Amino acid sequence: MSHVLSAVAWPYANGPRHIGHVAGFGVPSDVFSRYMRMAGHEVLMVSGSDEHGTPILVQADKAGMSPQEFIDANHRLITEDLTGLGVSYDLYTRTTAANHHDVVQRMFLACHANGYMVEQAQQVAISPSTGRTLPDRYIEGTCPICKYPEARGDQCDNCGNQLDPADLIEPRSKINGEVPQFTDTQHFFLDLPALAGALGEWLAGREASGLWRPNVIRFSRNILEEIRPRAMTRDIDWGITVPLDGWRENPTKKLYVWFDAVIGYLSASVEWARRLGEPERWRDWWNDPEALSYYFMGKDNITFHAQIWPAELLAHNGEGARGGDEGPFGRLNLPTEVVSSEFLTMEGRAFSTSRNIVIYVRDILERYQPDALRYFLSAAAPETADSDFSWPEFVKRTNNELVAGWGNLVNRTASMIAKNFGEVPAPGELEEVDRALLDQIATGFDTVGELIATHKQRAGLAEAMRLVGEANAYVSTTEPFKLKGEDQRERLATVLHVLAQAVVDLNTILSPYLPHSSTAVHRALGGEAVFQPMPVVQQVQDLDDPSRPDYPIITGDYSAAPRWEHRPVRVGAPVAKPTPIFTKLDPGTADEERRRLGLGPDDDAPAG
Ligand code: MF3
Ligand code: ZN
Repeated sequence: MSHVLSAVAWPYANGPRHIGHVAGFGVPSDVFSRYMRMAGHEVLMVSGSDEHGTPILVQADKAGMSPQEFIDANHRLITEDLTGLGVSYDLYTRTTAANHHDVVQRMFLACHANGYMVEQAQQVAISPSTGRTLPDRYIEGTCPICKYPEARGDQCDNCGNQLDPADLIEPRSKINGEVPQFTDTQHFFLDLPALAGALGEWLAGREASGLWRPNVIRFSRNILEEIRPRAMTRDIDWGITVPLDGWRENPTKKLYVWFDAVIGYLSASVEWARRLGEPERWRDWWNDPEALSYYFMGKDNITFHAQIWPAELLAHNGEGARGGDEGPFGRLNLPTEVVSSEFLTMEGRAFSTSRNIVIYVRDILERYQPDALRYFLSAAAPETADSDFSWPEFVKRTNNELVAGWGNLVNRTASMIAKNFGEVPAPGELEEVDRALLDQIATGFDTVGELIATHKQRAGLAEAMRLVGEANAYVSTTEPFKLKGEDQRERLATVLHVLAQAVVDLNTILSPYLPHSSTAVHRALGGEAVFQPMPVVQQVQDLDDPSRPDYPIITGDYSAAPRWEHRPVRVGAPVAKPTPIFTKLDPGTADEERRRLGLGPDDDAPAG
């Protein structure tokens, strides 16, 4: 048993989630966390909405809302999306929580006290017409790295690199198009070169573990070679105050959004413990050197999780070239694994909200079963290469695999039992063919478990579905529907008992992927209560700011999660005629959905 931290990337509170987002961080982190709980680990799964920074300001402006109204509305939408999908967070909070501000400021002070936050002049943009500072968000230009013409002063949305406004080629003001002038202003820089040695050692250890995906290790090693100090404060009026005299009072200087967001993993763990009434409990996941931590994200986040965040931790711990003391949080663990996904495309194109190349999680959940989406996103997961979501593929996988494979096995097993016995029958003597099936399925606990634990969830699901296929083949071989005579009744009981056992075990194995339907399957075979516990939305008060209106968080009690093990089916458990658990999709579904996106039934170019 280990303490396992599941650290899930914090979505920007800039709109509802689309399926590309949840393919990258949502479903993989949940499958993993559910499995690890079942395997007996103590899992703490945390995340929240990322509510500071330039992108939020730009989009709030566009929406004609104040930043606060904008994030409140979007945070609520995101909590609904993620809860609807069944992502089992212990705490999903937000970066505007007062607790988060406090933890971030303490981290900053610790890094500063240890000498890793160095004040340096940096160029800042001034509007020549007004003489005032132009915040990063109001500067646009060509990305120096990928040459994308509409990169922002803080980041390029095309290649994902973080930028400083002065890096832009042909910078211009977004307000009036004028060319900004650059002048010097003071900022704090994280002294990454002073942390590079320690980072390199940590990364070498991680590489030696052989666990990281090769592309993630390669990328992390490369960025270590070009390491330079990075500004951790910004000219912006929306964010966390720099907790130092002379800075605190300045409303236009805040901590950089990425400095703050990654600290969310720690602050949310602290908030979780505080809400539990055991304020020191978070230490089990952060200070125990044996504890494991897994960070889930899309590939555009690797820099921040494999470099900036470990560097902040090392600086806090006093473990860089400048030495220093352990900060206020004690010696904090560095990531065990940075589990980064590639991208999901949609009908062959990159997601783009502005061009309506987007499918929102909430729209799918309104029309389809959550487990159909989870199934697709697991089966076609962009684990080590980009993968594509298309409606015809979604319909095909749902109908051919989920409905005709797994759903059919459950359905015919329960129907035959209901019709012939009304309860799970006691078996007679097992034959070779019976034992062979049960033995095969028992191996699934090891094979599928190992694949999930090592983030090969796609292969894990394929293996589980192969076993489903074996069980369906067993029905064809043993032909229980032909065992009609009185003298065949014992054989019928045996076959149906073996099938019930197969379904029970396969349900356990599939349940990290398909948690919603696992309860229905469990009940179809006479089980009681809920099989996989589900997250809930709760309205809460800010722990430290009583003046703030209530807001939703996601939490849940997952202590009743089933064990990852074979459990004998209960002879005599009542089995009624089942209703189908998975919904078969109409053949017209794909065309109808493609029309919503402005795509014809067989053309490939977006209309308009
Ligand atoms: N909001 C960022 C994004 O969507 C991710 C932040 S992850 C965290 O790309 F580590 F900073 F929390
Ligand atoms: Zn770029």
